[in-house]
Amino acid sequence: MGLSGVLTGLRTYPFVRLTEARRRLQAEGVRVVDFGMGEPREETPAFIRRAVAAAIEAEPVSAYPLAEGLPELREAAAAWVARRFGTELDPAAQVVPTLGSKEAIFSLAQVVDGAVGVPTPGYPVPERGALFAGREVVPVPLTAAHGWLPDLDALPWDRLGLLWVNFPGNPTAATAPPAWLEEAAARCRAHDVVLASDEAYCELWFEGDPPPSALQVDDLRGVLAFHTLSKRSSMPGYRSGFVAGDPELVAALRRYRPNVGTAPQVFVQRASVAAWSDEEHVVATRERYARKRDVLLPALLEAGFERAGGDASFFLWLRAPGGDDVACAESLLELGIVVAPGSWLGAGGEGHVRVALVPTIDDCAAAAELLSGWRGASR
Ligand SMILES: Cc1ncc(COP(=O)(O)O)c(C=O)c1O
Repeated sequence: MGLSGVLTGLRTYPFVRLTEARRRLQAEGVRVVDFGMGEPREETPAFIRRAVAAAIEAEPVSAYPLAEGLPELREAAAAWVARRFGTELDPAAQVVPTLGSKEAIFSLAQVVDGAVGVPTPGYPVPERGALFAGREVVPVPLTAAHGWLPDLDALPWDRLGLLWVNFPGNPTAATAPPAWLEEAAARCRAHDVVLASDEAYCELWFEGDPPPSALQVDDLRGVLAFHTLSKRSSMPGYRSGFVAGDPELVAALRRYRPNVGTAPQVFVQRASVAAWSDEEHVVATRERYARKRDVLLPALLEAGFERAGGDASFFLWLRAPGGDDVACAESLLELGIVVAPGSWLGAGGEGHVRVALVPTIDDCAAAAELLSGWRGASR
């Protein structure tokens, strides 16, 4: 059978390996606290669940959704952008709803030509999308020395067609200052490169100012921002997000997307209007993640981990005691604590672990307790 060489050449998706490790431990009867995968496990707020149920009831005939999305969803998304970032978008021309943000991130390399710059360590989907689209992948190193920001002076601008950035960063939890985003957009524009900004975690932060958006730059030509309700509104299973920015690029997405059939279900779009229009639940979600961090972080620091990244997203990015991230993660596994070794998340992640604050507060407290008896990977 002639399978795609890109598919057969892929190493196991790191998160699949984490799931396997968790299942094996659970089968052995170990209580597992899983900080490995970045999947929110908070309840979806009741008003959103009611909105989806009402939307299903209201439309007994289920038509195909249109790629352009419901006008009311585009308006709700644009209104949220205006409230949150102070940028006025034209909902008719600058917003397109997506099925969560992953599919849109994956497929952008099919819409934009040229080599694709992908941050490393980072979320693997931009790279995988580039590979399946047959594009050249240009790793863009993120380092502590550079504040986990790409070094704009070191990029091969002449080859690039698309540059991915992700702030707050997975796994680094770092945010980019507004001036850096402005500079990145200007350089991209000067070299005819599309700046694609994955802002999946922009509503989660612990300290400092709310994370900025690429949508705040002075000139949106060549800029696209990817947003999602998965983390902000604890709706990963609904699959709802949007892409916004340069009207020319949004028009290209609208031309491309009907080919793939990735328009979100109409009832999900209606529930998403409710979600984007409410901030109260987002404040409560932020507070819950902050409580988890307050319970867990002191125990991790006490156990020898050091803070290495930023203060946003729901990730803790930590230097592993002993410096060997895989040995450290394996040693924690014996306790029933799953974390992601940084080296699984791309070159440059070595020596670090990523802790996703997704278990319950009780589980975070249980993990903190377990850590107090941990002797470390190599201590
Ligand atoms: C950095 C980053 N971007 C995008 C996504 C995609 O999330 P979704 O497809 O649920 O919007 C994730 C999910 O884990 C992520 O970590």
